[in-house]
Amino acid sequence: RTVSLIGAPTDVGASVRGAGMGPEALRVAGLAEALRSQRLTVVDRGNLAGPPNPWMPPTQGVRHMDEVVAWNRAVFDEVAAALGRGHVPLLMGGDHCLAIGSISAIARHCRERRKNLRVVWLDAHTDVNTEAISPSGNLHGMPVSCLLGHGPAQLVGWSGERAAIAADNIDFIGIRSVDADEKQAIRLLGLQVFDMRHIDEHGMRNTMTEVLQDVDEDTHLHVSFDLDCLDPMEAPGVGTGVRGGPTYREMQLCMEMIADTGQLASVDVVEINPALDVRNQTAQLAVEFIQSLFGASTLAR
Ligand code: ARG
Ligand code: MN
Ligand code: MN
Ligand code: MN
Repeated sequence: RTVSLIGAPTDVGASVRGAGMGPEALRVAGLAEALRSQRLTVVDRGNLAGPPNPWMPPTQGVRHMDEVVAWNRAVFDEVAAALGRGHVPLLMGGDHCLAIGSISAIARHCRERRKNLRVVWLDAHTDVNTEAISPSGNLHGMPVSCLLGHGPAQLVGWSGERAAIAADNIDFIGIRSVDADEKQAIRLLGLQVFDMRHIDEHGMRNTMTEVLQDVDEDTHLHVSFDLDCLDPMEAPGVGTGVRGGPTYREMQLCMEMIADTGQLASVDVVEINPALDVRNQTAQLAVEFIQSLFGASTLAR
């Protein structure tokens, strides 16, 4: 397998500056070398270009719409190109608004190839706000709505259909921060949210067994990995950390169980904020989890 690393150095969708340094932090932590050490071919495509962060207040419920559109267009094209080459795109964000471009390109690819897209959303947040209900106006809190066909018009429909994914095609893991109106959206949309209480009560093993039960050889499995899914004690380098996340071991098991399906076909790694990190610890942690996601195991070769 060949992995295409795609850097998208921006924080235009975030509430805190710094996630734009994420791609370089992952390179410094040795992401490419780590994947090469496990029989993978890795091509670093470098960084995409896009507008700077104007750091403006929201207008009509969203901040930086034009900049978010521009960055996502670049992401969409590069992810589509990687898939066209038969590569596994690994998007190095950047903030989580970039999942709009990334998953829209993947959804289009899956429709063309008659693959069933399944998204595993690893996050402290569900990111299912819209411009009408977001308390912040930050687009990194809205990518799931855009992909479901409910977000701001400029960010909906990129896959060629109004909804890139259906509610049935996405599972959320590690959730522990949902805004008031977001809770209602989750209920109305019928989203499958495995929150931290679910993981506490059932354990990561049973949770992931449930999430992955219908994955088969026709499935394109996409992992959207927001590093704030982890406990901030483990991963301090994030802009919107929430305490009470999965432990290092729980997250390792989650990654290993996804790898065992053999269907991992694309990944987003987002929200690493080196400006808030401690000696690049969060990017290093991300590299360890990505290794497991691509099949690294303690005993198997
Ligand atoms: N729910 C909050 C908001 O809409 C926080 C979202 C955080 N999202 C993220 N990708 N870190 O502003
Ligand atoms: Mn998050
Ligand atoms: Mn399910
Ligand atoms: Mn997120």
